[in-house]
Amino acid sequence: QSSHRINIAIDGPAGAGKSTVARLVANALQYIYVDTGAMYRAVTAIALERGLSSEQEAEIGLLARELAIELLPGDDGQRVLAGGSDITAKLRTHEVNRNVSAVSAIEAVRRRMADLQRRMADSKGVVMDGRDIGTHVLPDAELKVFLTASPRERALRRFKELGDNPGITLDQLEIDIAERDRKDQEREFAPLLQAPDARYLDSTGLSVQEVADRISEWGRAATRTI
Ligand code: DC
Repeated sequence: QSSHRINIAIDGPAGAGKSTVARLVANALQYIYVDTGAMYRAVTAIALERGLSSEQEAEIGLLARELAIELLPGDDGQRVLAGGSDITAKLRTHEVNRNVSAVSAIEAVRRRMADLQRRMADSKGVVMDGRDIGTHVLPDAELKVFLTASPRERALRRFKELGDNPGITLDQLEIDIAERDRKDQEREFAPLLQAPDARYLDSTGLSVQEVADRISEWGRAATRTI
């Protein structure tokens, strides 16, 4: 029943496990998962492909407004289409990692992404993960979670994802993550921030399943109270 569905916002820094957890929660509640980081990555990947540098704010803002970004559920996770073509494989490169904070700090980019994200959440039943979902994109979300973990643990998780050929050391990864946190927290427009009504959850030492179970339970409880 759509009248009993809620929206769930999961915000927090890079590597806190938001996307894995959000996907599990969406599965448990039969909700739709929206990975907003992937949308900023898509704009970044296309901008780089067109030879733009992250300082070309006006050009990138224009690009974000024109680009049709779609999120599709796929067998091995969410697929991202930009202008109709599947660019999922291009979203997690070092190049994109290095430029995505600068691109996502551009106000015109954020406005456009927030518009798209609000539309996706219009009919409720969405689990959305990002940095500014509870504070800015969906301030009325019925459940807000601020999910974090220690910088070392977050670096370790990213390191494991990179597989046998990480191309970077764990220490460097931890430095990069701290740097990205700082940029995301210090940007002027819609920075990474815990909403006052968000539940704080430190996942250090917890398994993704434990974290997901806890949030799903909060979600079920919130569904019952409205
Ligand atoms: O969650 P992620 O690592 O895929 O996010 C990539 C970048 O996008 C991250 O550095 C910050 C930015 N981002 C954002 O500014 N706002 C969001 N709602 C989601 C991501």
